[in-house]
Amino acid sequence: MMDSTHYLEQAVNGPLRLMEPLEQELFRLRFAQHMPDALRALRQLYGQRPDFDSWVGHLVNLVAQGYASRPGPLRLLDLDRAIEPDWFQQSDMVGYVCYTDRFAGTLAQVAEKISYLQELGVTYLHLMPLLRPRPGPNDGGYAVQDYRQVNPLLGSMDDLASLAGQLRRHGISLCTDLVCNHTAKEHPWAQQAMAGDQRYQDYYIMYADRAMPDRYEETLPEVFPDFAPGNFTYYEAINRWVWTTFNEYQWDLNYRNPAVLAEMLDIILFLANQGVEILRLDAVAFMWKRLGTDSQNQPEAHAILQAWRALSRMAAPGLLLLAEAIVSPDKLIPYLGRGLATNKECELAYHNVFMVLLWSGLAERNARLMTYALQQMPAIPSGTAWLTYARCHDDIGWAVRDEDAAAIGLNGFLHRAFLSDFYSGRYEGSFARGATFQFNPKTGDRRISGSLASLAGLEAALEAGDSRLIELALRRVLLLHNLILVFGGIPLLYMGDELALLNDGSYLDDPSLMDDNRWLHRPRMDWTRVAQRTDEQTIPGRVFQGICALVAARQRTPALHAQAHTQAVWTHNDQVFGLLRESPRGRVLVLANVTESAQAVARHRLFELGFGGPLRDLLAEEPLADGHDVWLPPYGVCWLALDE
Ligand code: GLC
Repeated sequence: MMDSTHYLEQAVNGPLRLMEPLEQELFRLRFAQHMPDALRALRQLYGQRPDFDSWVGHLVNLVAQGYASRPGPLRLLDLDRAIEPDWFQQSDMVGYVCYTDRFAGTLAQVAEKISYLQELGVTYLHLMPLLRPRPGPNDGGYAVQDYRQVNPLLGSMDDLASLAGQLRRHGISLCTDLVCNHTAKEHPWAQQAMAGDQRYQDYYIMYADRAMPDRYEETLPEVFPDFAPGNFTYYEAINRWVWTTFNEYQWDLNYRNPAVLAEMLDIILFLANQGVEILRLDAVAFMWKRLGTDSQNQPEAHAILQAWRALSRMAAPGLLLLAEAIVSPDKLIPYLGRGLATNKECELAYHNVFMVLLWSGLAERNARLMTYALQQMPAIPSGTAWLTYARCHDDIGWAVRDEDAAAIGLNGFLHRAFLSDFYSGRYEGSFARGATFQFNPKTGDRRISGSLASLAGLEAALEAGDSRLIELALRRVLLLHNLILVFGGIPLLYMGDELALLNDGSYLDDPSLMDDNRWLHRPRMDWTRVAQRTDEQTIPGRVFQGICALVAARQRTPALHAQAHTQAVWTHNDQVFGLLRESPRGRVLVLANVTESAQAVARHRLFELGFGGPLRDLLAEEPLADGHDVWLPPYGVCWLALDE
């Protein structure tokens, strides 16, 4: 194997040759820092190949090109991030997630909404897939035809770069998707594969007959059993079975081929150099396939992420990587880096487990499963953070482990079935209005679609015209937001939830959307409701102002920094969820009543948890009244600290 200084000299004499000596030195430093990590990951993936050295040389060359073409303002950003590496972990971070067209129209028009985002305290904006998708159905943009062009309906790459700059000047970091597990079958690579070009057929995973697909299928689950059953699609033109985990038109990439890893690295650097600050790497769990397994979360999928992270850090160290891996708790944590890869994989990952447990707690009116399951999750590395959320553009899949359910006396299968019944509104007495997404008859699995407010009971309450039920639903909406804001990490507000938008059935009128009921909770922004946001007598106003107050409380509480340990604690009242945030910055005890009746937590329990003295209520900003118990109103939440 070649000495790594050889790659460095090639880069300096190649892409970096025209740069100032100081800039070259800076690259040398970053190379020395990150190359060992890159090599470790790359050896794990491709170390057996005779052409390994030349691939590494190629990757370093791409990195050097990315470095040389990084615009000045982004070089400054890189320095800024190096000076303040915990910027994304601080308690003033708030994320917002929306579709460009549904929120504002075009990318240029998003800039006109910056002041709206600022009212909510937003510092991170995820614009849903915006690269050029295939024509026709495109899985909400997750079938990309061109990674270097923006969807023409939204604008151009220049518009994207300009928006990124405007957002940054307003303290908002732009996050975009990189769909790295698959391309649209209309992508030029796929088109050339379809034309019979072996070089590009090797970019994908395809077989001449059913022998291998059948063997793989024995252990593969189905992601979209309803509208895209099976994991392979036959194409007559090439007489091949192509691996298609998701829809037929989404072809899985073949990362056993280093050319694919290199292409994506180049795209990562390209997008970073447009000013994208966070890349949401889509469906990363699926990136490596292995016979006899479910082909998810394979060690090599982690190595790919580690390689990208180390290599991209040399060219664009300000860039953060976000893993979209919606998997069970034990599979999830490693995306934030374990062992040798601690702090060296993705900086961010979605806490889908917490999201699921929130909904589970509300349905059950009980916090035992939440508490126990969260306690089983190990701590995350100091340089990483969760993205916490209650709703997103996807369905809710009940990521509850059988072991966790069993430990508190529940049957995992039956509990997941109960949650599906409850949130599809089939369960007698349920407050929720949702829909079943992708019933899988083989496993009995049923996922759920629905907007936050509808799932939390607002739609049914409004229909019933019952003000008490409306009040309870609004409290649930605020409780969910409260807990994602206090848990630790970057809380994500999902567009429309800040105004309690209900389910939107209009997707049924659009033939390219009607098969996919996730559009039920991907509404268009309702700017008439936005106009009501300051009037707390209205529902949008109540929720919007409620969220703003919570954001303000979060901003003034540095103890909620993502580095603070997050621990679920038993409150000795199963109806009250307890969460302890603890670090040298301070200690905060959160108590959340997940039921519609008032609940109490005994003072001696607070004493045992280290909250024995006079207490301050950080939300109300006043001392907590003395008394035997702490009383929480229906769905009430308090954040307590010792009053010093
Ligand atoms: C991710 C996206 C989801 C999409 C899938 C396939 O899970 O969030 O919307 O369907 O990837 O790209």
